[in-house]
Amino acid sequence: MILITGATGNVGRLVLERLAADGRKVRALSRNPEDVRWPSGVEAVAGDLTDAESLAAALNGVEAVFLFAAPGSGPGFTAAAEAAGVRRVVLLSSGAVDDAAEAQDGPIAAYHWEIEQALRASSLAWTFLRPEVFAANVLPWAHQTKSGDEIRGAYAEAASSPIHEADIADVAVAALTSDGYAGTIHHLSGPESLTHADQARILGEVLGRPIRYIEVPVEAVRQQMSAHVPAPILDSIIKIWAESVETPRPVTDGVEAVTGQRPRDFRTWVRDHAEAF
Ligand SMILES: NC(=O)c1ccc[n+]([C@@H]2O[C@H](COP(=O)([O-])OP(=O)(O)OC[C@H]3O[C@@H](n4cnc5c(N)ncnc54)[C@H](OP(=O)(O)O)[C@@H]3O)[C@@H](O)[C@H]2O)c1
Repeated sequence: MILITGATGNVGRLVLERLAADGRKVRALSRNPEDVRWPSGVEAVAGDLTDAESLAAALNGVEAVFLFAAPGSGPGFTAAAEAAGVRRVVLLSSGAVDDAAEAQDGPIAAYHWEIEQALRASSLAWTFLRPEVFAANVLPWAHQTKSGDEIRGAYAEAASSPIHEADIADVAVAALTSDGYAGTIHHLSGPESLTHADQARILGEVLGRPIRYIEVPVEAVRQQMSAHVPAPILDSIIKIWAESVETPRPVTDGVEAVTGQRPRDFRTWVRDHAEAF
Protein backbone atom coordinates (compact mmCIF):
# COMPACT_ATOMS: atom_id res chain seq x y z
CA MET A 1 0.00 0.00 0.00
CA ILE A 2 1.24 3.49 -0.89
CA LEU A 3 -0.06 6.49 1.08
CA ILE A 4 -0.32 9.79 -0.79
CA THR A 5 -0.46 12.89 1.39
CA GLY A 6 -1.22 16.31 -0.11
CA ALA A 7 -3.46 14.16 -2.31
CA THR A 8 -5.77 17.03 -3.23
CA GLY A 9 -2.83 19.23 -4.23
CA ASN A 10 -1.27 19.97 -7.63
CA VAL A 11 1.37 17.26 -7.35
CA GLY A 12 -0.22 14.72 -4.97
CA ARG A 13 -3.38 14.44 -7.08
CA LEU A 14 -1.30 13.43 -10.12
CA VAL A 15 0.82 10.99 -8.12
CA LEU A 16 -2.39 9.38 -6.87
CA GLU A 17 -3.92 9.19 -10.36
CA ARG A 18 -0.77 7.70 -11.89
CA LEU A 19 -0.39 5.01 -9.23
CA ALA A 20 -4.12 4.13 -9.27
CA ALA A 21 -4.07 3.90 -13.10
CA ASP A 22 -1.06 1.59 -12.79
CA GLY A 23 -3.14 -0.76 -10.59
CA ARG A 24 -1.18 -0.03 -7.38
CA LYS A 25 -2.90 -0.17 -3.99
CA VAL A 26 -3.14 3.48 -2.97
CA ARG A 27 -4.57 5.38 -0.04
CA ALA A 28 -5.15 9.14 -0.07
CA LEU A 29 -4.84 11.36 2.99
CA SER A 30 -6.88 14.54 3.33
CA ARG A 31 -8.05 16.60 6.27
CA ASN A 32 -11.53 16.44 4.74
CA PRO A 33 -11.67 13.30 2.56
CA GLU A 34 -15.47 13.33 2.40
CA ASP A 35 -15.42 16.61 0.43
CA VAL A 36 -13.36 15.11 -2.42
CA ARG A 37 -14.22 13.01 -5.50
CA TRP A 38 -11.44 10.43 -5.58
CA PRO A 39 -10.35 8.34 -8.58
CA SER A 40 -11.86 4.84 -8.53
CA GLY A 41 -9.91 2.27 -6.56
CA VAL A 42 -8.55 4.88 -4.14
CA GLU A 43 -9.10 4.43 -0.42
CA ALA A 44 -9.40 7.84 1.27
CA VAL A 45 -8.60 8.50 4.93
CA ALA A 46 -8.82 11.52 7.22
CA GLY A 47 -5.68 12.81 8.88
CA ASP A 48 -3.66 15.93 9.60
CA LEU A 49 0.11 15.78 9.16
CA THR A 50 0.59 18.19 12.06
CA ASP A 51 -1.33 15.83 14.38
CA ALA A 52 0.70 12.60 14.48
CA GLU A 53 -2.00 10.74 16.42
CA SER A 54 -4.40 11.26 13.54
CA LEU A 55 -2.02 9.38 11.20
CA ALA A 56 -2.01 5.92 12.79
CA ALA A 57 -4.94 4.55 10.78
CA ALA A 58 -3.68 6.15 7.57
CA LEU A 59 -0.23 4.56 7.98
CA ASN A 60 -1.46 1.08 8.90
CA GLY A 61 -0.13 -1.47 6.38
CA VAL A 62 1.66 1.21 4.34
CA GLU A 63 4.98 0.48 2.64
CA ALA A 64 5.71 3.85 1.01
CA VAL A 65 4.53 7.45 1.58
CA PHE A 66 4.47 10.48 -0.70
CA LEU A 67 4.92 13.22 1.89
CA PHE A 68 3.62 16.78 1.62
CA ALA A 69 5.76 19.12 3.74
CA ALA A 70 3.39 20.51 6.36
CA PRO A 71 5.48 22.94 8.48
CA GLY A 72 6.56 21.40 11.79
CA SER A 73 5.35 17.91 10.88
CA GLY A 74 8.73 16.17 10.53
CA PRO A 75 9.35 14.57 13.96
CA GLY A 76 5.71 13.57 14.55
CA PHE A 77 5.26 12.08 11.10
CA THR A 78 8.58 10.25 11.22
CA ALA A 79 7.83 8.62 14.57
CA ALA A 80 4.36 7.56 13.40
CA ALA A 81 5.75 6.15 10.14
CA GLU A 82 8.48 4.19 11.92
CA ALA A 83 5.95 2.82 14.42
CA ALA A 84 3.72 1.69 11.54
CA GLY A 85 6.58 -0.12 9.77
CA VAL A 86 6.74 2.19 6.73
CA ARG A 87 9.86 1.54 4.62
CA ARG A 88 10.07 4.37 2.09
CA VAL A 89 9.22 8.10 2.15
CA VAL A 90 9.38 10.46 -0.83
CA LEU A 91 9.27 14.05 0.44
CA LEU A 92 8.01 16.96 -1.67
CA SER A 93 10.67 19.35 -0.38
CA SER A 94 11.88 22.60 -1.96
CA GLY A 95 14.62 23.84 -4.26
CA ALA A 96 15.12 26.62 -1.70
CA VAL A 97 16.89 24.16 0.65
CA ASP A 98 20.64 24.73 0.54
CA ASP A 99 22.86 21.91 1.85
CA ALA A 100 25.89 24.21 1.86
CA ALA A 101 24.30 26.90 4.05
CA GLU A 102 25.09 27.10 7.75
CA ALA A 103 21.54 28.31 8.35
CA GLN A 104 18.69 28.07 5.84
CA ASP A 105 17.82 31.37 4.16
CA GLY A 106 14.25 32.19 5.20
CA PRO A 107 11.30 30.22 6.56
CA ILE A 108 10.43 28.34 3.34
CA ALA A 109 13.86 26.73 3.11
CA ALA A 110 13.97 26.28 6.90
CA TYR A 111 10.74 24.33 7.37
CA HIS A 112 11.50 21.99 4.46
CA TRP A 113 15.04 21.46 5.78
CA GLU A 114 13.68 20.61 9.24
CA ILE A 115 11.44 17.88 7.78
CA GLU A 116 14.39 16.57 5.74
CA GLN A 117 16.47 16.44 8.94
CA ALA A 118 13.79 14.43 10.76
CA LEU A 119 13.74 11.91 7.90
CA ARG A 120 17.56 11.72 7.73
CA ALA A 121 17.64 10.93 11.47
CA SER A 122 15.09 8.12 11.06
CA SER A 123 15.33 4.50 9.94
CA LEU A 124 13.15 5.29 6.90
CA ALA A 125 14.51 5.08 3.35
CA TRP A 126 14.04 8.72 2.27
CA THR A 127 14.09 10.48 -1.09
CA PHE A 128 13.96 14.27 -1.31
CA LEU A 129 12.37 15.99 -4.30
CA ARG A 130 13.47 19.63 -4.34
CA PRO A 131 11.53 21.39 -7.07
CA GLU A 132 12.13 24.90 -8.28
CA VAL A 133 9.21 27.33 -8.72
CA PHE A 134 5.99 25.62 -9.87
CA ALA A 135 4.51 26.72 -13.21
CA ALA A 136 1.20 26.48 -11.31
CA ASN A 137 2.20 29.56 -9.30
CA VAL A 138 0.81 31.65 -12.19
CA LEU A 139 -2.73 30.29 -11.63
CA PRO A 140 -3.58 33.38 -9.51
CA TRP A 141 -3.03 35.44 -12.68
CA ALA A 142 -6.29 33.95 -14.00
CA HIS A 143 -8.51 36.60 -12.46
CA GLN A 144 -6.50 39.23 -14.38
CA THR A 145 -6.51 37.39 -17.72
CA LYS A 146 -10.26 36.91 -17.43
CA SER A 147 -10.82 40.66 -17.16
CA GLY A 148 -8.12 42.02 -19.51
CA ASP A 149 -4.83 41.60 -21.30
CA GLU A 150 -2.51 42.84 -18.55
CA ILE A 151 -1.00 41.07 -15.58
CA ARG A 152 0.06 43.40 -12.80
CA GLY A 153 2.70 41.97 -10.50
CA ALA A 154 6.08 42.47 -8.90
CA TYR A 155 9.49 42.14 -10.57
CA ALA A 156 8.82 41.68 -14.30
CA GLU A 157 12.41 40.47 -14.74
CA ALA A 158 12.47 37.90 -11.92
CA ALA A 159 13.65 34.72 -13.67
CA SER A 160 12.70 31.20 -12.64
CA SER A 161 12.70 27.76 -14.27
CA PRO A 162 9.02 26.89 -13.86
CA ILE A 163 8.28 23.20 -13.51
CA HIS A 164 5.15 21.35 -14.62
CA GLU A 165 3.59 19.45 -11.71
CA ALA A 166 3.35 16.40 -14.00
CA ASP A 167 7.15 16.17 -14.11
CA ILE A 168 7.38 16.24 -10.31
CA ALA A 169 4.70 13.54 -10.19
CA ASP A 170 6.60 11.39 -12.70
CA VAL A 171 9.74 11.56 -10.57
CA ALA A 172 7.72 10.85 -7.41
CA VAL A 173 6.13 7.75 -8.93
CA ALA A 174 9.56 6.41 -9.92
CA ALA A 175 10.90 6.97 -6.41
CA LEU A 176 7.82 5.51 -4.70
CA THR A 177 7.86 2.29 -6.69
CA SER A 178 11.55 1.38 -6.68
CA ASP A 179 14.23 0.74 -4.08
CA GLY A 180 16.79 2.52 -6.23
CA TYR A 181 16.16 6.04 -4.89
CA ALA A 182 16.86 5.58 -1.17
CA GLY A 183 19.02 8.42 0.18
CA THR A 184 18.89 10.46 -3.04
CA ILE A 185 18.12 14.15 -3.57
CA HIS A 186 16.57 15.45 -6.78
CA HIS A 187 16.79 19.16 -7.62
CA LEU A 188 14.01 19.49 -10.20
CA SER A 189 13.19 22.32 -12.60
CA GLY A 190 11.53 23.06 -15.89
CA PRO A 191 13.68 23.14 -19.05
CA GLU A 192 14.09 26.90 -19.49
CA SER A 193 14.73 30.15 -17.64
CA LEU A 194 11.79 32.55 -17.98
CA THR A 195 11.05 35.93 -16.44
CA HIS A 196 7.57 36.87 -15.25
CA ALA A 197 7.31 38.99 -18.41
CA ASP A 198 8.25 35.97 -20.58
CA GLN A 199 5.63 33.83 -18.84
CA ALA A 200 2.91 36.44 -19.45
CA ARG A 201 3.91 36.64 -23.15
CA ILE A 202 3.79 32.84 -23.56
CA LEU A 203 0.44 32.73 -21.78
CA GLY A 204 -0.87 35.25 -24.31
CA GLU A 205 0.58 33.34 -27.27
CA VAL A 206 -1.21 30.16 -26.18
CA LEU A 207 -4.47 32.00 -25.44
CA GLY A 208 -4.22 33.78 -28.81
CA ARG A 209 -4.08 37.39 -27.58
CA PRO A 210 -1.26 39.68 -26.48
CA ILE A 211 -0.82 39.64 -22.71
CA ARG A 212 1.63 42.05 -21.09
CA TYR A 213 3.19 41.93 -17.64
CA ILE A 214 3.06 45.35 -15.98
CA GLU A 215 5.50 45.70 -13.10
CA VAL A 216 3.96 47.36 -10.04
CA PRO A 217 5.72 48.35 -6.80
CA VAL A 218 6.42 45.35 -4.63
CA GLU A 219 4.69 46.94 -1.63
CA ALA A 220 1.37 46.97 -3.51
CA VAL A 221 1.79 43.26 -4.27
CA ARG A 222 2.76 42.55 -0.66
CA GLN A 223 -0.39 44.24 0.59
CA GLN A 224 -2.58 42.31 -1.83
CA MET A 225 -1.01 38.90 -1.04
CA SER A 226 -0.92 39.46 2.71
CA ALA A 227 -4.62 38.63 2.86
CA HIS A 228 -3.89 34.95 2.18
CA VAL A 229 -0.12 34.36 2.68
CA PRO A 230 1.47 34.46 6.19
CA ALA A 231 3.93 37.39 6.56
CA PRO A 232 7.19 35.40 6.99
CA ILE A 233 6.39 33.20 3.96
CA LEU A 234 5.46 36.28 1.92
CA ASP A 235 8.76 37.95 2.86
CA SER A 236 10.55 34.81 1.73
CA ILE A 237 8.72 34.71 -1.63
CA ILE A 238 9.45 38.40 -2.28
CA LYS A 239 13.11 37.92 -1.40
CA ILE A 240 13.38 35.00 -3.84
CA TRP A 241 11.77 37.12 -6.61
CA ALA A 242 14.08 40.09 -5.90
CA GLU A 243 17.22 37.94 -5.91
CA SER A 244 16.21 36.17 -9.11
CA VAL A 245 16.24 39.43 -11.09
CA GLU A 246 20.05 39.45 -10.81
CA THR A 247 20.56 35.71 -10.31
CA PRO A 248 17.99 33.60 -12.16
CA ARG A 249 16.83 30.46 -10.36
CA PRO A 250 18.72 27.47 -11.81
CA VAL A 251 17.73 25.17 -14.65
CA THR A 252 18.61 21.62 -13.57
CA ASP A 253 18.76 18.19 -15.21
CA GLY A 254 16.97 16.53 -12.27
CA VAL A 255 13.79 15.51 -14.11
CA GLU A 256 15.54 14.03 -17.13
CA ALA A 257 18.00 12.15 -14.90
CA VAL A 258 15.07 10.15 -13.51
CA THR A 259 12.51 10.04 -16.33
CA GLY A 260 14.83 10.07 -19.34
CA GLN A 261 12.60 12.79 -20.81
CA ARG A 262 13.15 16.52 -21.21
CA PRO A 263 10.81 18.22 -18.72
CA ARG A 264 7.60 19.74 -20.09
CA ASP A 265 8.05 23.42 -20.99
CA PHE A 266 5.96 26.35 -19.75
CA ARG A 267 4.05 26.52 -23.06
CA THR A 268 2.91 22.92 -22.49
CA TRP A 269 1.86 23.76 -18.95
CA VAL A 270 -0.25 26.69 -20.22
CA ARG A 271 -1.86 24.49 -22.89
CA ASP A 272 -2.69 21.92 -20.19
CA HIS A 273 -4.34 24.61 -18.04
CA ALA A 274 -5.64 27.06 -20.68
CA GLU A 275 -9.25 26.75 -19.50
CA ALA A 276 -8.25 28.26 -16.13
CA PHE A 277 -7.28 31.54 -17.80
N1 LIG B 1 4.77 26.41 -5.31
C1 LIG B 1 6.06 26.33 -5.52
O1 LIG B 1 6.64 27.09 -6.31
C2 LIG B 1 6.88 25.29 -4.78
C3 LIG B 1 8.24 25.22 -5.04
C4 LIG B 1 9.00 24.24 -4.37
C5 LIG B 1 8.38 23.38 -3.48
N2 LIG B 1 7.05 23.48 -3.26
C6 LIG B 1 6.42 22.52 -2.30
O2 LIG B 1 5.25 22.01 -2.86
C7 LIG B 1 4.17 22.24 -1.98
C8 LIG B 1 2.91 22.50 -2.76
O3 LIG B 1 2.54 21.33 -3.43
P1 LIG B 1 1.17 21.26 -4.21
O4 LIG B 1 1.06 22.48 -5.07
O5 LIG B 1 1.05 19.93 -4.82
O6 LIG B 1 0.18 21.36 -2.99
P2 LIG B 1 -1.13 22.22 -2.82
O7 LIG B 1 -1.86 22.27 -4.14
O8 LIG B 1 -0.78 23.44 -2.09
O9 LIG B 1 -1.97 21.25 -1.89
C9 LIG B 1 -1.40 20.62 -0.79
C10 LIG B 1 -2.42 19.73 -0.11
O10 LIG B 1 -1.80 19.31 1.10
C11 LIG B 1 -2.81 19.07 2.05
N3 LIG B 1 -2.38 19.57 3.35
C12 LIG B 1 -1.98 20.82 3.68
N4 LIG B 1 -1.70 20.88 4.99
C13 LIG B 1 -1.92 19.63 5.48
C14 LIG B 1 -1.83 19.05 6.77
N5 LIG B 1 -1.48 19.76 7.86
N6 LIG B 1 -2.14 17.73 6.90
C15 LIG B 1 -2.54 16.99 5.84
N7 LIG B 1 -2.66 17.49 4.59
C16 LIG B 1 -2.35 18.79 4.43
C17 LIG B 1 -4.06 19.80 1.59
O11 LIG B 1 -5.04 18.82 1.36
P3 LIG B 1 -6.41 18.73 2.22
O12 LIG B 1 -6.95 20.13 2.30
O13 LIG B 1 -7.22 17.80 1.38
O14 LIG B 1 -6.04 18.17 3.55
C18 LIG B 1 -3.67 20.45 0.26
O15 LIG B 1 -4.62 20.25 -0.75
C19 LIG B 1 4.59 23.44 -1.14
O16 LIG B 1 3.86 23.47 0.07
C20 LIG B 1 6.06 23.18 -0.98
O17 LIG B 1 6.24 22.25 0.06
C21 LIG B 1 6.28 24.40 -3.89
